[in-house]
Amino acid sequence: MGRPGKHVCSQVIPALVRERSIDLVIANAENAAAGSGLTMPMFAKLRHYGVDVCTMGDHVYKRHETLALLESSDRVVRPANLPREATGRELAVVTARNGARVAVFTVLGRTFMNVRADCPFHAADRLLGSLPADVKTAVCDMHAETTSEKVALGWYLDGRITAVVGTHTHIQTADERVLPRGTAYITDLGMTGPYDSVLGRDRYAVVQSLVTGVPHPYNVATDERAAVRRDRRDGRRERAGAVDRAGEHSGPAAAAAGAGGLTRSSSGKVIAGARLRREPSLLRCCLLWV
Ligand SMILES: [Fe+2]
Repeated sequence: MGRPGKHVCSQVIPALVRERSIDLVIANAENAAAGSGLTMPMFAKLRHYGVDVCTMGDHVYKRHETLALLESSDRVVRPANLPREATGRELAVVTARNGARVAVFTVLGRTFMNVRADCPFHAADRLLGSLPADVKTAVCDMHAETTSEKVALGWYLDGRITAVVGTHTHIQTADERVLPRGTAYITDLGMTGPYDSVLGRDRYAVVQSLVTGVPHPYNVATDERAAVRRDRRDGRRERAGAVDRAGEHSGPAAAAAGAGGLTRSSSGKVIAGARLRREPSLLRCCLLWV
């Protein structure tokens, strides 16, 4: 989210890809450009940092310049349950670094969202039914406000898709698991962005708005720690390393699976996974071994 999120991506993704031999990086980028939308230059930067595919969400059309990006890139997907005429691709099929063909799409939830969208369940059915025969790995970003819609889609697609991962609420949930038929699931991956904030926005402005009822501009929060890392060249690597080492999550599911945060799949579809929640954390992500 915004500049702090971009800064962390630039520092963490290249090292993470190297250390974990990650084959494909998928990011929801709908808030990358100054907290709302995605621009061509920002997309180019994310690609440079190692992001392979960007999904969008309810902010997909917040910026007019995003339209050109959606029309030109086959690595950015708009929500698939928008009208057929909506600008942009609803499905990306890319080749990962290990040679696997991977399909990526996103759907919007319909509860408490300010976008009129069609049924996400039927949209997912339609896309999964259209996948090329050589595509064995598919990931769905369920961009929704309510946990119930996301959990329901996870169960609905269990065994038919590699992973269902939620986005939009900006708060990472602790329910990562492999569902009985082999689909990896987490209700929300959380946000990569300013830690001391309200969902990435200036915490003082949000609190003041809620307390007084007087609207304040919800600018992207500045992150003092990220700023320190930028300014202190000597300390940059040390600080980045601290973020890297600090806090791989180890909850009950992680204990059950050893090093991974997800339990093993009986079908073998998802071998293992780990949810990363690095503290003081600006990085929220989920790793899957498929
Ligand atoms: Fe969103």
